[in-house]
Amino acid sequence: MKNFISLNDLPDFDEALSLAKSLKKDPFAFKKYAKLKTLGILFFNPSLRTRLSTQKAAQNLGFNTMIMNFSNEAWALEFDDGTEMRGIRSEHIREAAAVVSQYCDMVAIRAFASLTDKVRDEAEIVLKSFAKYASIPVINMESAVGHPLQALADAITLDEYPTQHKPKVVLTWAPHPKALPHAVANSFTKMMEFRKADFIIAQPEGYELDPRITKDVPVIHNQEEALKDADFVYAKNWCSYSNYGSILRTDNEWTLTEDKMKQTNSAKFMHCLPVRRNIVVADGVLDHPNSLVIDQANNRTFAAQAVLKTILDNDQS
Ligand code: CP
Repeated sequence: MKNFISLNDLPDFDEALSLAKSLKKDPFAFKKYAKLKTLGILFFNPSLRTRLSTQKAAQNLGFNTMIMNFSNEAWALEFDDGTEMRGIRSEHIREAAAVVSQYCDMVAIRAFASLTDKVRDEAEIVLKSFAKYASIPVINMESAVGHPLQALADAITLDEYPTQHKPKVVLTWAPHPKALPHAVANSFTKMMEFRKADFIIAQPEGYELDPRITKDVPVIHNQEEALKDADFVYAKNWCSYSNYGSILRTDNEWTLTEDKMKQTNSAKFMHCLPVRRNIVVADGVLDHPNSLVIDQANNRTFAAQAVLKTILDNDQS
């Protein structure tokens, strides 16, 4: 694996998951693996978990880390070719990616969807331009289309709560005051392809995700019906995909409440965080012992560590 842009880049999903779980048991097993190597960690958008867990994962493997917020610290980048650069964009990605490649041995990048230009978002311009012009491996820390490090962490979390039967896993849309990207829902859906589970998506009409990603996953427009006998409930907001970037409803009818969770099989609650309390999910669900949100955040370190080690192994082979 040279780059980690999506879960499909992993040579073997189950092996990566197993590596992540073993790294959780012994985080310093490879503490000198990346000695004298440097991981660049570049943010075009805010973060708490991704920033700290990726840095911690790198340090556990012996990397030095360099972190930069491109949104306010670096020159604004131009991604189009052939432009006369008269505007606010002072540096072209061709030079920026080449220069970062001189200082770092790998680079991890976060660049969200604009939610205004579907074609450009789906092209993952920032991430893929770095992959094109950098001479070092590129890692996706959430792009316009996917958040595979989150999904790998979520797989670790699911495995930590085995059920006697094939689990029912529900990804339910939930309300939010802002238009949010599809990346987490996309990657969770992709990750569920690798698992033995009854997986369904619950969402109001108009909130269908990209059908190229959901494929034949059952979609239900009645949240309470979807929640019946669920073993895991993953709540997440996303904006409309077909009416790209739009918020179609602002009511709280789809907020995940304690009453709704009574329909489930004492389901574990999941969310990638950050979460808006009492809009996405009621306090009582988030603070309940069945809430796995802190476990998910913890597992981000070991997901990132597994990805970094897999890339290092590729470098050394
Ligand atoms: N879940 C997640 O990616 O969190 P941050 O946005 O805080 O990194």
